Amino acid sequence: MPQRVRGVIAPGKGAPVRIETIVVPDPGPGEAVVKVQACGVCHTDLHYREGGINDEFPFLLGHEAAGIVESVGDGVTEVAPGDFVILNWRAVCGQCRACRRGRPQYCFNTHNAEQKMTLEDGTELSAALGIGAFADKTLVAAGQCTKVDPAASPAAAGLLGCGVMAGLGAAVNTGAVSRGDTVAVIGCGGVGSAAVMGARLAGAARIIAVDIDDNKLATALRLGATHSVNSRAGDPVAAIQELTGGNGADVVIEAVGRPETYKQAFYARDLAGTVVLVGVPTPEMKLELPLLDVFGRGGALKSSWYGDCLPSRDFPMLIDLYLQGRLDLDAFVSETIPLDGVEEAFVRMHKGEVLRSVVVF
Ligand SMILES: NC(=O)c1ccc[n+]([C@@H]2O[C@H](COP(=O)([O-])OP(=O)(O)OC[C@H]3O[C@@H](n4cnc5c(N)ncnc54)[C@H](O)[C@@H]3O)[C@@H](O)[C@H]2O)c1
Ligand SMILES: [Zn+2]
Ligand SMILES: [Zn+2]
Repeated sequence: MPQRVRGVIAPGKGAPVRIETIVVPDPGPGEAVVKVQACGVCHTDLHYREGGINDEFPFLLGHEAAGIVESVGDGVTEVAPGDFVILNWRAVCGQCRACRRGRPQYCFNTHNAEQKMTLEDGTELSAALGIGAFADKTLVAAGQCTKVDPAASPAAAGLLGCGVMAGLGAAVNTGAVSRGDTVAVIGCGGVGSAAVMGARLAGAARIIAVDIDDNKLATALRLGATHSVNSRAGDPVAAIQELTGGNGADVVIEAVGRPETYKQAFYARDLAGTVVLVGVPTPEMKLELPLLDVFGRGGALKSSWYGDCLPSRDFPMLIDLYLQGRLDLDAFVSETIPLDGVEEAFVRMHKGEVLRSVVVF
């Protein structure tokens, strides 16, 4: 029997979100219904609401979530009812050219549920990142459920489902930060702070946090940054060079998504260093750099989607580190809010007051 539950809907471009009754079908082959326990408010949810991702309104928002599998469809073997799972937006297909080459973290054909959740009048909903977890229950592809240790707090665990994984993975996977490296992170919101934590986990010797907001810098220092630079106070490139013996950092992670901060990242790295772009630019942004500098400085210019993570490999491992006290995911939960608090949480996020507001059910 399809179930009727509450869900947070973005009805149209720029319009405030509202709670509506949504219809969640029984899981079909390869699908699962998950009872959501917690779901973080991510910048991408706001992008959806503003029409910045696509025009397929109405959206069912929410995608940084953890919960309990309630039921599964035919052929599902990887998870079973009762499992505690983090929802992911990279359910790999196993068959595309990336998967076949043994690089499933780049899968070009990831899975979502085949069936659609709907409003009561039958209007089909577009689930944010194929998840839609600002809802009591949601329908996903079974591969979007990654089973982890149920001892973890759902509010903290769910954050691995997007922003924290994106930042942490930008450092650990994409940037391949290793012991002794010097790392700079430009933009220390939820994603950048997670990059700081990833750099620390990987054994970076020096981690320079850069932001325009002293509160964000204070948090980054708490999470493992060794130095902080407020770029309102002067040229951050010069400051990073000064902190690195005039050389620049081995890995610079850009977690803002703007041409000017990307240029800072480009020039703040050492020769043969790596730049990782994890911030998401908007379509009109352009970058101009002397090609000779791109050539002459060597190294690698990379971008990072979802921290180049493979959920089945990374989520259980990171939850284990969290439970051992080696990865402070709780530090990202600035506040817990009810399901009807999402619109106000967008305002606080926009003002930079929180790393993450998390809806707890
Ligand atoms: N690549 C991915 O897979 C992925 C996943 C999730 C989010 N993102 C993107 O990462 C970016 C950061 O997300 P977030 O949730 O941390 O957002 P956020 O708003 O919490 O953080 C952005 C931070 O950048 C700082 N900032 C703004 N302008 C700056 C400047 N000129 N110099 C230095 N710092 C500056 C802000 O003060 C803030 O602390 C966004 O673009 C988001 O869309 C990417
Ligand atoms: Zn694939
Ligand atoms: Zn997200």
